[in-house]
Amino acid sequence: MEQKIIFTNHVGESIDDIVGQLGSPAVFVLCDVNTQSFVLPVLQAQSGTVAAAKIISTRAGDASKDIEALASLWKSLSDLGATRQSVLINIGGGVVTDLGGFGAATFKRGMHFINVPTTLLGAVDAAVGGKTSVNFNGLKNEIGVFANADAVIISTCFFNTLPQQQLLSGYAEMIKHALLQSKDMLDRLLAYSVVYPLFDSEALLGLLEESVAVKQNIVAQDLTEKGLRRALNLGHTAGHAIEAMALKYQSPVPHGYAVAWGLVVCLVLSHMELGFPSETLHKIAAYVLENYGAHSITCKEYPELISLMRHDKKNPSPDSISFTLLKDIGQPVCGCVVSEEKIEAALDIYRDLMHI
Ligand code: GLY
Repeated sequence: MEQKIIFTNHVGESIDDIVGQLGSPAVFVLCDVNTQSFVLPVLQAQSGTVAAAKIISTRAGDASKDIEALASLWKSLSDLGATRQSVLINIGGGVVTDLGGFGAATFKRGMHFINVPTTLLGAVDAAVGGKTSVNFNGLKNEIGVFANADAVIISTCFFNTLPQQQLLSGYAEMIKHALLQSKDMLDRLLAYSVVYPLFDSEALLGLLEESVAVKQNIVAQDLTEKGLRRALNLGHTAGHAIEAMALKYQSPVPHGYAVAWGLVVCLVLSHMELGFPSETLHKIAAYVLENYGAHSITCKEYPELISLMRHDKKNPSPDSISFTLLKDIGQPVCGCVVSEEKIEAALDIYRDLMHI
């Protein structure tokens, strides 16, 4: 079943409509401490449903998306009398929608839930597509289920207060979707300025709608990631390795920045393995360098990066390293096994392109 996604800057009204259609007798809202301070009061003023809802709060930040936070959510739902017919409205970024989605999907074997993403990264990725999870045993998103929200309500009206770094982080996932879709979509994204002072939230809502449709179309064909959904991993094999290594050496980078650098590595490999056009590779590399800067990688770090790629949970077997690559824009090929020598050569070219 395709997930219902509503693009609107009248969020309160949409929440009232959807909850009315669900006919839920009781409504709960999950926020983190940031969305509780900054977003909840706005929605309480706009929506009778939110104004009357019982509020459950969780800590902010990926480190708090854990089993304790999940148990605390279940306990609040239970103590406050939630039933299978109740609805949980998750208001926040990926931490809140992942945690709240998993909590709702498992509470009494599943209650209704609605996602209201408040970050660009959440809107374009985490809140849509039915992946829910918590971190466990030191591993990210280790425990979770595929469960579609009853609805996802996407608005750009919450983004005005986001730091530029967070906007750019989400924008990298939009560039990934455009690479999977069409040259036209990519050109429109590269021409738009997601950073202040040129941020135009109406235009961004239109671009977001196109971008989310790319993911929605893929997920509708392969919710549980048996095949085609692996295309959404474009840029993530190298990106996750860069992100994990930066975290290990105490200089964490935003997820979308790692994806942007990972996309450059992936397009280099796509050129080497599948003849992806060099002109587009250079265009993306220049865009990434200008907007995300250059993430420095030294030759000495290659073995550790490659080991992280080998053990990426999306890699089907540690005996080989598999990438989603592109023949051209809109032509992904999943499961491309690439040798370590070629990955090292691609990292060399990444460093040249990033002027490192
Ligand atoms: N973030 C990629 C996916 O949802 O499959």
